[in-house]
Amino acid sequence: MKYTLAFDVYGTLINTYGVFNSLEQMIGDKAKLFMETWRNKQLEYSFRRGLMNKYKDFSVCTNDSLEFCCIMFKTDLSKGQKEFLMDEYSVLPSFADVESSLKNLKEAGHKLFAFSNGSGKAITKLLTDAKIIDRFDGIISVEGIGIFKPSPLVYEYFNSETNSAKSDSWLISSNPFDVIGAISYGMRSAWVQRSQNSIFDPWGIEPTLIINQLTDLPMKLEKMK
Ligand code: 2OP
Repeated sequence: MKYTLAFDVYGTLINTYGVFNSLEQMIGDKAKLFMETWRNKQLEYSFRRGLMNKYKDFSVCTNDSLEFCCIMFKTDLSKGQKEFLMDEYSVLPSFADVESSLKNLKEAGHKLFAFSNGSGKAITKLLTDAKIIDRFDGIISVEGIGIFKPSPLVYEYFNSETNSAKSDSWLISSNPFDVIGAISYGMRSAWVQRSQNSIFDPWGIEPTLIINQLTDLPMKLEKMK
């Protein structure tokens, strides 16, 4: 069976902890909690904007949540330092398992799309700089419909933009909110549990597949009916 695969970007293909090292040099041992809070607040802002129907480019959520963290952690980062961190967010490394798994999935005949809250421009830059953009058949950004994950409208938009059906498409993500959103919509979804510490929300909705690294995906998909 050949599938249409929607790959989440931040935290699944792209390692957002690339920013961590710079942050640690700026603020020392507060960096770990700062980074976690920044990511959680970035997502919270996207959820709130979705519910409020006040869509803005995902980079606005990233920037506003950075400002929130500076207040919360009482870090007097300069304008230049914040701009540097935002620039670092626009050029991040892919995880080590990405290149080979995308190559194998492509060779197995699946269609591969990057699928993100990030704008088409931001994701194109990220995947180009990470040297994996050529592995994809396309990039689908929620900017096309002006609402964020996990609204069912974004997964429906993915299916319409890729001319795929719920039944032959999968969402691949390390983010439980995304996996639960896609399954609730009716797609199948593989959760990439990159850390044993990652917790899947106890909602009674389970991933179709759980993998610890993307390189496990080709074989697991082959075994699916
Ligand atoms: C995405 O790339 C935010 O990780 C989420 O859409």
